[in-house]
Amino acid sequence: MARIPLRYAFHIMQTQRLYVDPHQPDPAAIAVAAAAITGGQLVAFPTETVYGLGANALDPAAVERIFTAKQRPGTDPLIVHLATASHLDRVVQEIPAVVQGLAERFWPGPLTIVLHRGQGVAPNVSAGRSTVAVRVPAHPVAHALLVACNLPIAAPSANLFSRISPTTAQHVLDDLDGRIAVVLDGGPTTIGLESTVVDLTQASPVLLRPGGVPAELLFDLLPDLHVPAAPVIAAEGEAAAAPGTLLKHYAPRAAVVVLRGNAVAARALAQAILDLLHHAGKRVGLLVPDEEFPLYAELHTEVVGMGPSADLLAVARYLFARLRELDSSGVDVILAREVAAGGLGTAIRDRLFRAAEGKILDVDAPTDLAGWLARLLLDNSTPR
Ligand code: TXA
Ligand code: MG
Repeated sequence: MARIPLRYAFHIMQTQRLYVDPHQPDPAAIAVAAAAITGGQLVAFPTETVYGLGANALDPAAVERIFTAKQRPGTDPLIVHLATASHLDRVVQEIPAVVQGLAERFWPGPLTIVLHRGQGVAPNVSAGRSTVAVRVPAHPVAHALLVACNLPIAAPSANLFSRISPTTAQHVLDDLDGRIAVVLDGGPTTIGLESTVVDLTQASPVLLRPGGVPAELLFDLLPDLHVPAAPVIAAEGEAAAAPGTLLKHYAPRAAVVVLRGNAVAARALAQAILDLLHHAGKRVGLLVPDEEFPLYAELHTEVVGMGPSADLLAVARYLFARLRELDSSGVDVILAREVAAGGLGTAIRDRLFRAAEGKILDVDAPTDLAGWLARLLLDNSTPR
């Protein structure tokens, strides 16, 4: 058999898709995945938030493969996943008293805590910084994998860098087929948005990313938690100072625009945008809360319901899948209605805002729509 040059190896790798019961995963499948992790390979697995792309967090070469497979810049640090909070001392230097309470209340679950990195963790996990982000996932498949390999697993979301996070194994394969060893297919994830990230290594705690645990629930234990009023946006070169806050994140191929304000005015503006863009030969898709759906019945274009805005759990669960669905339908522009802030709404708004790369149209304020859209489609700048 002809020898294959090593540098091409991951392009031709056969990704093994192993179906597992999300509640009671088959130990044989878990053993295959655990052997891949122990052997330095990459395994995608479901967590309760999104699918993660895992590697042995103690092995720098394995961790490096995550960055390569995802085409993720080495400056963006990864989250380390543990089977139980009692393994924290394997990956961090010291455990502040408040972590005990946070762990009891929110672990296993969608809360990630940034602490001072311990000796054994591969430095590239945290992109060379002295801190490490840690969480104990609640999904039985993630838990079984962590127990079977008895290692901390570094895992970012299992998507190509700056694309939408995967909430199904098919999403993972759409981005990473042939680039990873195994995907454990445990069906769709339940929360649908990534974990909340809090940094406990600064003078007072800072919310780095809104997510599955609403910040409102953290104030009991972290009364001085600093919550940025608006999404924190880092410019392209600034990623190292504020990891994970790059504007171009969660971006579909289509241009996304968030429509803010009154439902009836939004419907009228959507019609005007549609007319202008259809004229230019462009296709438009809409993502609207279910209760606004009837308003759009006569609109001749793709309209997808995001779930009832009174049920933010449902909106969060399917948001990324619906964005992917609209994106793969081939539309050029996606108009997405904004949801109210508060609870999970804050995280949903954050992800939509990033998918839109900051492009928000206030439907109640007058706009030079034609000029705005021309800039949007022509030079891909960020018109406001
Ligand atoms: O729900 C989740 O958190 C999923 C599942 C797989 O656990 N993981 C995930 O990972 O979303 P990722 O890499 O896509 O996002 C991790 C976030 C990024 O914003 C990253 O910059 C931040 O956590 N982060 C990781 N380590 C950090 C550190 N040491 N200091 C500051 N931020 C950190
Ligand atoms: Mg991610």
